[in-house]
Amino acid sequence: MDVNGISAIVTGGAGGLGEATTRRLVAAGASVVVADLSDERGKELADELGERARYVSTDVTSDDSVEGAIAAATELGPLRLLVNAHGGAPGPAARVVGRDGSPAPMDAFDGYVRLFLAGTFNTMRLVSAAIARQEPDANGSRGLVVNTASIAAFEGQVGQTAYSAAKGGVVGLTLPAARDLSPLGIRVVAIAPGTFFTPAFRMERDEAETRWGSGVPFPKRMGSPSEYAELVHSIAINDYINGETIRIDGALRFQPK
Ligand SMILES: NC(=O)c1ccc[n+]([C@@H]2O[C@H](COP(=O)([O-])OP(=O)(O)OC[C@H]3O[C@@H](n4cnc5c(N)ncnc54)[C@H](O)[C@@H]3O)[C@@H](O)[C@H]2O)c1
Repeated sequence: MDVNGISAIVTGGAGGLGEATTRRLVAAGASVVVADLSDERGKELADELGERARYVSTDVTSDDSVEGAIAAATELGPLRLLVNAHGGAPGPAARVVGRDGSPAPMDAFDGYVRLFLAGTFNTMRLVSAAIARQEPDANGSRGLVVNTASIAAFEGQVGQTAYSAAKGGVVGLTLPAARDLSPLGIRVVAIAPGTFFTPAFRMERDEAETRWGSGVPFPKRMGSPSEYAELVHSIAINDYINGETIRIDGALRFQPK
């Protein structure tokens, strides 16, 4: 799929991986709706990028809100791409049974599943219905959904059951969603990042690199959001990648702690 001239929605588009993706897609000629809850950073980014970027305050778990992002994206051009890169920490990390013997809080588990898994499915179903209304290109392609999982879907660490379960769900829906959407010419691909330095780490880069980068086999550093964004672009332009989860992690495999 040629991204030049298309319209795209990037959820979490004002966050670390989302912002880099927005910049990469705009550089490749796409128009992008930055669909995020961070009004200040979203507006700032859209203002900087000019007329091919628009910020729309969007909560991925709200249908009305996602429909607003779809309406804005449709005004910018033919909507053909959704990138789900929203994030956050809906609750504290918790062992199934804590050291004090108390069970993990259920609301935190529900929160992770709601934001990361249900939020991803919600945008995918609504945006795919909009992509389905586009004319197919010469190859029969109407568009693409890229969801963001995590290597924690495969190697969740101590205290990470909620996050790992939600991200495992994102991996699990990739193939059946690709199968569902294949008659419409819409591909579905998931990316499972290792550790990428973004605002999500809430610490200075040096500290994050010491804690997370040194354990990566090669390159011996955290990933750069631009490397994630480059993968999104590579997936977009290669029609034969479909129904798969792609790790991008410098060969990192999380240990239990
Ligand atoms: N950074 C990493 O190392 C890493 C590794 C593996 C997976 N991931 C995944 O990549 C995604 C992006 O991570 P990041 O590091 O860029 O995070 P980030 O915190 O930098 O950005 C996340 C963005 O999502 C927005 N957001 C939060 N709730 C939202 C909602 N309900 N609707 C719309 N937007 C919402 C936030 O405002 C923020 O701008 C997340 O799903 C995360 O789990 C990141």
